[in-house]
Amino acid sequence: MVEAKRHSGGEGLSFLMVGGGPGAFIGAVHKAAVDLLGRARLVGGCFSQSFDKSKAQGKLWSIAPDRVYPTYAQMLTQEAARPDRPDFVTIVTPNNTHYPVAKMALEKGFHVVCDKPLCLTVKEASDLVATARQKRLEFLVTYTYVGYPMVRQAREMVKRGDLGDLRLVIAEYAQDWLADQPKDNKQAGWRTDPKVSGLAGCMGDIGTHAESLASFITDLSPVSLLANLDTFVKGRKLDDNGFVWLKYPRGIKGSIWASQVAVGKENGLTIRLFGTKGGLEWQQENPNLLYFMPKGKPVELLTRAQGYLHPHAGRYTRLPTGHPEGLFEAFANLYDGFISTIIAKRKGTKPSDFDLFPNVGDGARGVKFIHALIKSNKNKNTWVTLDK
Ligand SMILES: NC(=O)c1ccc[n+]([C@@H]2O[C@H](COP(=O)([O-])OP(=O)(O)OC[C@H]3O[C@@H](n4cnc5c(N)ncnc54)[C@H](O)[C@@H]3O)[C@@H](O)[C@H]2O)c1
Repeated sequence: MVEAKRHSGGEGLSFLMVGGGPGAFIGAVHKAAVDLLGRARLVGGCFSQSFDKSKAQGKLWSIAPDRVYPTYAQMLTQEAARPDRPDFVTIVTPNNTHYPVAKMALEKGFHVVCDKPLCLTVKEASDLVATARQKRLEFLVTYTYVGYPMVRQAREMVKRGDLGDLRLVIAEYAQDWLADQPKDNKQAGWRTDPKVSGLAGCMGDIGTHAESLASFITDLSPVSLLANLDTFVKGRKLDDNGFVWLKYPRGIKGSIWASQVAVGKENGLTIRLFGTKGGLEWQQENPNLLYFMPKGKPVELLTRAQGYLHPHAGRYTRLPTGHPEGLFEAFANLYDGFISTIIAKRKGTKPSDFDLFPNVGDGARGVKFIHALIKSNKNKNTWVTLDK
């Protein structure tokens, strides 16, 4: 088994959270991932729009009562003035609040972690890129799947030419939880409301994960796309299924199918890459495995934590072979790269090549992807160029 790099902890980083209140989905995953990492401590939050709910969450997480706030604006203002001000702010609210919270956090000098999609408009995305750059602050966008060790392995294999010249990048993300409109489901409610979710439904929620995964493994951004979106559930205002064709540089072609009405599929994110010398396949529901299909040879099954893997995969593994790792570890790996980069900055050193994480630029690419596919669909499925 490969030896993962261990951190001693005790680096003294602390953070605030916006969102993640009682009954919320992803806030608790972020908290658990950072706890697993042991490199930062949650010290304050505005976990809900309801102050009572926020206080209940703070109590559950043993946050000092005077550091639980009724509004994020009050929290960012007061926490920024503390002599022991926290290092970063994690934003885990629905999509329409990402921009104002992230903008204010950057302006107050905090590094930022924001869940996907980064924000609602290209203008907002460009502004966040410019603000983070101007303030010299780090910004992690939690495209979860980029954090898996076998995804890091896939990226390194593509990079070192194991697949030969890359030709095809095929991703699909199929779920079924919105095959009907669930009643009394908070997560479903806002995800199907354009005012909160943004211009896209399924494509914004999970299509962007597939896009980020393809871009991360290939280290390429799409140049243009053609999209066809569907809304199968009656009365729904946003897409719940869609197909996208993509052109990457060097004549590489790609496609993404994303669906939340694919009955029988739970969280079926799969990516396949094919080059002149071989192919690769990774499935999120079996994330510790990676299939390599070399031309004219038997299929190889690579497994997590083995000594034959690239150091980039070994570095982000915790448990020995055969002990499955999953979503929490993937989130922790994203935070690991982000925190290492903050610490390197603090010490005036350069972050290491291992400290890879999706940043605000990747988040902005995701927002442009959403806007381009909406435009293509509206223009009767024509090709749309993605702005740099
Ligand atoms: N990376 C991933 O794999 C992943 C998975 C799920 C969700 N997400 C993203 O995370 C975000 C949250 O999704 P979720 O499913 O956890 O949503 P959720 O509805 O379960 O939780 C949102 C929380 O934010 C709180 N909130 C809303 N507005 C607020 C405000 N102004 N101030 C303070 N708190 C506020 C709500 O009260 C709630 O507690 C979304 O952007 C979503 O796309 C990412």
